[in-house]
Amino acid sequence: MLSSSAPQGHCPPPAPLPSLLSADVVSDPYPHYRLLRERHPLVRDELLGAWLLSRYADVRAALVDVRLGAAGAGPGPVRRGLVEPALRAAAERTAFVLARRVAGRREVDLVAEFSAWLPAAAAVAALGLPWEDAARVREWCRGAPAPTGGPHPELGGLLRPHVARRRAHPGRDLLSVLCGPRADGRALSDETVTALAGALLTGGGEATGLALASFLANLLDHPAQLALLRARPALIPGAWAESLRRDPPAHVVLRRALAPIPVGGTTLPTGAMVACLVGSAGRDPFRFADPDRYDIFRPDPAHLAFGAGQHFCPAAALAALTAECGLRALLDAMPGLRWAPGPRPAPQGLMARAPHRLLVRPC
Ligand code: HEM
Repeated sequence: MLSSSAPQGHCPPPAPLPSLLSADVVSDPYPHYRLLRERHPLVRDELLGAWLLSRYADVRAALVDVRLGAAGAGPGPVRRGLVEPALRAAAERTAFVLARRVAGRREVDLVAEFSAWLPAAAAVAALGLPWEDAARVREWCRGAPAPTGGPHPELGGLLRPHVARRRAHPGRDLLSVLCGPRADGRALSDETVTALAGALLTGGGEATGLALASFLANLLDHPAQLALLRARPALIPGAWAESLRRDPPAHVVLRRALAPIPVGGTTLPTGAMVACLVGSAGRDPFRFADPDRYDIFRPDPAHLAFGAGQHFCPAAALAALTAECGLRALLDAMPGLRWAPGPRPAPQGLMARAPHRLLVRPC
């Protein structure tokens, strides 16, 4: 239920607020988030065409509220049980190759050489597609961080010949498993196989790459915590969750009102767009002590980067395993991993936010 965030009657009339889309807010949204949380917990952003929710409790409540529908269609189902073992093996191999390829260099941009490639290349490897397809898949994923855009129109064309080949000559890859007979002896249709493979290829590759870039930036900013993960890899999942809380790859999850929704003195009409600011929720001091601090020992990161409720990301565990394989490979290949001298990269974007460059010294 949306409730507690209704504007209070005794509040002074709101001063004109910049839009979430204004350049200053996009480059550093945190002062704006603070103002929204403290003074404008429910406010309309005309340029965005949506009502903004910024407090943790309100964002969470909206994400689980069944009167608010997801604003887009997902790319298709993700069968985690089927996909996870193949993806883990492929992500380990791919991360190893990508990390070793650049480990001997004096300086490396880990975005251009690693984090932007790993999710698409691991999915391509898991499915048993040729390595060259990784570049095409990566291109399709770019600019589509939230998995709500539906399958890429060229996906069918890419997959069709591979599906036909696996039907005729099954191999040991995930695509062959998807094409093979089920327990009842029947096979999945070509459309279902394409939807499943497509979800893996493009369903969240960009988001995973961006989240991995922010994860690496947080660890490079905190060398002591990075050293701890090197010594105790069991801490990696908590460190990943903490990075998603502090720096989610998409700061906005959109919802649409399916019916009129009274909120305090306002009623959101049917069809109204609601922007759940998960980037602000993760920095809400009412939910998280010292929220700007990156702390892998935070007892309960409880982030909303994967959404909540019925649309909770079905691939959260797949993204986590890709990130963990990535970090482990980098730690193995790069014993002295640290920032290269020079200015630190500022994260950019809001719908897709992450540093665009991570210049490091591997040794
Ligand atoms: C760090 C990486 C990722 C993040 C932060 C992320 C985030 C999200 C969020 C916030 C939603 C909910 C959208 C909503 O409520 O409207 C979502 C849904 C979804 N995600 Fe992810 N995602 C990630 C990776 C992936 C990957 C790798 C895949 C595919 C293999 C994927 C597939 C999906 C699908 C199919 C949905 C739609 C679920 C539904 O509508 O019921 N995501 N994701």
